[in-house]
Amino acid sequence: SDRFTYDPGFTSTAACESAITYIDGDAGVLLHRGYPIDQLAEKGDFLETCYLLLYGELPTAEQKAKFDRDVTYHTMLHDQMAKLFTGFRRDAHPMAVMVGVVGALSAFYHDSTDITDPNQRMIASMRMIAKMPTIAAMAYKYTVGQPFVYPRNDLDYAANFLNMCFAVPTEEYEVNPVLARAMDRIFTLHADHEQNASTSTVRLAGSSGANPFACVAAGIACLWGPAHGGANEAALNMLTQIGTPDRIPEFIARAKDKEDPFRLMGFGHRVYKNYDPRAKIMQKTTHEVLAELGITDDPVLDVAMELEKIALEDEYFKERGLYPNIDFYSGITLKALGFPPEMFTVLFALARTVGWIAQWKEMIEDPKQKIGRPRQLYLGQTHRDYKPMDKR
Ligand code: CMC
Repeated sequence: SDRFTYDPGFTSTAACESAITYIDGDAGVLLHRGYPIDQLAEKGDFLETCYLLLYGELPTAEQKAKFDRDVTYHTMLHDQMAKLFTGFRRDAHPMAVMVGVVGALSAFYHDSTDITDPNQRMIASMRMIAKMPTIAAMAYKYTVGQPFVYPRNDLDYAANFLNMCFAVPTEEYEVNPVLARAMDRIFTLHADHEQNASTSTVRLAGSSGANPFACVAAGIACLWGPAHGGANEAALNMLTQIGTPDRIPEFIARAKDKEDPFRLMGFGHRVYKNYDPRAKIMQKTTHEVLAELGITDDPVLDVAMELEKIALEDEYFKERGLYPNIDFYSGITLKALGFPPEMFTVLFALARTVGWIAQWKEMIEDPKQKIGRPRQLYLGQTHRDYKPMDKR
């Protein structure tokens, strides 16, 4: 047992070298390829951040136009894949559908499963970035019992996604540009976050040489959990359950009680022990979306603002460096945009796909790359001989 370091939860073990994303959790800093997340989210668009994550530099106007065109080219899903959706129960959680359908991409696009060819690696990457909104929107449409809406390549990435989710054949639907911009910003905020659980899952799956579609499906499975991507759904449910600001102290007391498993959802982070820089932009985006939609008195938002204020002043939360994380506000915004809670993690997966792929590519292209193979401290029985059943 002296041969290995025991580090449950990998809190102090670096599993890779990476040049993609930098986080200083104590200072509340998040940089992609050196650029602060707030500048990327406020000054650029999501596909620009995708380009940056994949290629390491911000694109020129010409590179950006080509990248946008290339992504647009791949937005359609093989039509046979529509049949896959109809095999699921209508009440299936859309994350269950995502795990299955994204994994199935390897069966439809096997030409780009050859991970040894850099050109195919890039095609697989573009395919996933382009098709993820189509798949996510189809998962949504299927659960609400509406016909699928094909991608519209005259719209930008976020607007096309909103159109695929909310357009219906019987009515005129025009995407509100303010809401599309908010959607785009939410995607940018979720694009990458270095070696979090789902990204580490993608890397570990990819380290065996598995194809990128299968690896991203593994990432989606990991993201589903409430301690990770499922937190935005859990945070909104919690705010709804609290209901009115006067009930906040009761929930704060429960969160502090070590006998009670309840935690304040949307609070705390493994790496940030200061304000999550994404949470600040998300909070601003929430207000913009609510203002645009004319929602002036959302009780859930009142609870959120008051809860944040109380928790930030509370010794328990201060001592432990527990601040609101990105999920605290994203649920409220996504609800206002018209998404049901079970779609929140799907949107996270859609946006995080580029991060997963960029990290997967970086790993595959790293000459030091090895299969991921953690060791263990064995605590079980030592050698013993098999006993026939009548002697046990
Ligand atoms: N409410 C109450 N207490 C908390 C919370 C919380 N949300 N988060 C951590 N603590 C306490 C915890 O009980 C522990 O206290 P003590 O030292 O007295 O035992 C201390 O803070 C440290 O917590 P930890 O569990 O050791 O921290 P961790 O790094 O393992 O967990 C976390 C990080 C995000 C899983 C956790 O903070 C949590 O469960 N938060 C709520 C769920 C959530 O919002 N998750 C979203 C994370 S951000 C987006 C993403 O990654 O997908």
